[in-house]
Amino acid sequence: MPTEHDIREALRGVVDPELGGDIVELGMVGDIQVDPDGVVTVGIALTIAECPLRSQIEQDTMRKVGALRGVTEVRVRTTAMTQRQRSELMSTARRNARENAEPTRVAPTTRVIAVGSGKGGVGKSSVATNLAVAIADLGFEVGLLDADIWGFSIPRMVGTDARLTANDDRIIQPIEAQGIKLVSTGLIVDSEETALMWRGLMLSKALEQFLKQVEWGELGYLVIDMPPGTGDIQMALARMLPQAEMVVVTTPQQTAQKVAVRVADMARRSYMPVVGVIENMSGFTCGHGEHYELFGSGGGRELADSLGVPLIASIPLDPAVVDGGDRGSPVVRSDPANPASIAFRAAATRLVELVPPAEDETCTARIARLVEALDAQQRQPA
Ligand SMILES: Nc1ncnc2c1ncn2[C@@H]1O[C@H](COP(=O)(O)OP(=O)(O)OP(=O)(O)O)[C@@H](O)[C@H]1O
Ligand SMILES: [Mg+2]
Repeated sequence: MPTEHDIREALRGVVDPELGGDIVELGMVGDIQVDPDGVVTVGIALTIAECPLRSQIEQDTMRKVGALRGVTEVRVRTTAMTQRQRSELMSTARRNARENAEPTRVAPTTRVIAVGSGKGGVGKSSVATNLAVAIADLGFEVGLLDADIWGFSIPRMVGTDARLTANDDRIIQPIEAQGIKLVSTGLIVDSEETALMWRGLMLSKALEQFLKQVEWGELGYLVIDMPPGTGDIQMALARMLPQAEMVVVTTPQQTAQKVAVRVADMARRSYMPVVGVIENMSGFTCGHGEHYELFGSGGGRELADSLGVPLIASIPLDPAVVDGGDRGSPVVRSDPANPASIAFRAAATRLVELVPPAEDETCTARIARLVEALDAQQRQPA
């Protein structure tokens, strides 16, 4: 059963996007109660009762705390802050803004979706690329970060050989391709051999630089293609981007239980909640309409059930996915009517429902309103 401390740590992953801080440091977390049956009740004091971010903060709280082992149910009790709490919060928010509260250049309003898996070769990079493009087609600004520092594959998959450039202040501009913004070590080095040569030098810091020195701009979504496995990169990401959530890719045949344990363990150690599972390389339908389940079936559903998260989509096995990846034109673009493309678009739509875009009211607007409300209260006779 998680302790109150564990829950507070998990709540550091709930960011108030407008105030640019997490709800713990902003003093918004009140009483936490853990019942022996795994029901956790979290008290959250909102700046104002009709806070526009209320449901977002509630949902994020439920997801983050719900991801902890042993938690069976999360109840959120919201209250409105007292005047004193509010002015404390305001000074924290101001201090944050002054002292550069954003350790990364990823805007606090950007939803971060890390595409990971319990093992390699299941199609993470293909899924990340096609999802990113499909989310962009829904009308969002999308970034795609290739966090597979050594085994990068995104440049090939989107068909770019452009090179990242940095300005005098060492700020890097992402490459634009397929309507999304891209960053990958493959956009720095000339060949896999050069990548090896650079290994341990600048590249060991690549991930950190990609988050801190890239001018991502105001992205709605940042999709991250994770390296295989459950190691350091995952932990580093979770530390630098506490708002990150994970989509787990699996094939239909995987011994779901084994993968589930690994993924759940990673999620728990990094406080990175799993939003859902995407089954990839599901059945293949040949030109004559015959259906073959080459890699078995049911693995995605099984994994989703054992993690207690939704199965977001099943992407069929289709040569067009390989072809699109090899030719540098993701299947959702090169062959939109392909069953795999249809499934990728459905996955993007579902994902945007599960991880809704942040409210786009500006921080300044909200702070201005808060100050007004405070002034009005102060003018009122006690
Ligand atoms: N739905 C699919 N249908 C057919 N081929 C696919 C599908 N998804 C991925 N592939 C192919 O499988 C291979 C592995 O995919 P990909 O590189 O995306 O996996 P990965 O999980 O990122 O691998 P790694 O763990 O090495 O990073 C690629 O050749 C890709 O084109
Ligand atoms: Mg990959």
